[in-house]
Amino acid sequence: MRPLIAGNWKMNGLSSSVREIEKLIGLLSGSVPDDRDILICPPATLIGLFATEFSDEGFAIGGQDCHAKASGPHTGDISAEMLADAGAAFVIVGHSERRADHGETDEAVRAKAEAAQRAGLVPIICVGETEAQRKAGKEKEIVGAQLAGSIPSGEGDYVIAYEPVWAIGTGLTPTTRDIAEMHAFIRAKVRDGVRVLYGGSVKPSNAEEILSIVNVHGALVGGASLKAEDFAAIIRAAK
Ligand code: PGA
Repeated sequence: MRPLIAGNWKMNGLSSSVREIEKLIGLLSGSVPDDRDILICPPATLIGLFATEFSDEGFAIGGQDCHAKASGPHTGDISAEMLADAGAAFVIVGHSERRADHGETDEAVRAKAEAAQRAGLVPIICVGETEAQRKAGKEKEIVGAQLAGSIPSGEGDYVIAYEPVWAIGTGLTPTTRDIAEMHAFIRAKVRDGVRVLYGGSVKPSNAEEILSIVNVHGALVGGASLKAEDFAAIIRAAK
């Protein structure tokens, strides 16, 4: 399957960050390798700018969240249609930071994923267990329930990102064997052709190993996607 390397910038980035993308393009020798998909999900304020500036550079732009409705009285929210209109092709939904900070349930995440598909975006649906859940041996039960509750029922395209909560921004990663086991578990629960990304402390030093695990079809990269050198190295590590 064609790997997808996605950068999740979270609440980081200003208009001056255009220079970081220019640097990234330079590091990739002026052309992005075309045997892999590259995605950058900046904060919503930068989607239009990045889409306009970099639409011909061979990578896609995505959002980090969307509202389930197309429009209406929802102050501060952004719809999937608005993201698409600004030039996004993907949107992350159900990231653990949103599940934790905004109380998003599986049901809410599914509604957002369906909204993304309605607007012509590909949702990247995030799942993953906490440290306590893994210590209790419940990781598959938790991830299985998140998948069952968050994946849209229709035929639309989607991507899954397996992100153990305890691996996000901590420098910790599961063992290669644990990643392989969880990805095989997820693979068996999704349609053929659905890519399953790994996320959580992916960096240049572990990217090649993680991206070569069976059933790992790419990475969702947080911190390391903010630095052009690191993100370029992770993009190159995808085979
Ligand atoms: P991290 O974040 O790479 O900084 O661990 C990953 C994510 O939250 O998507």
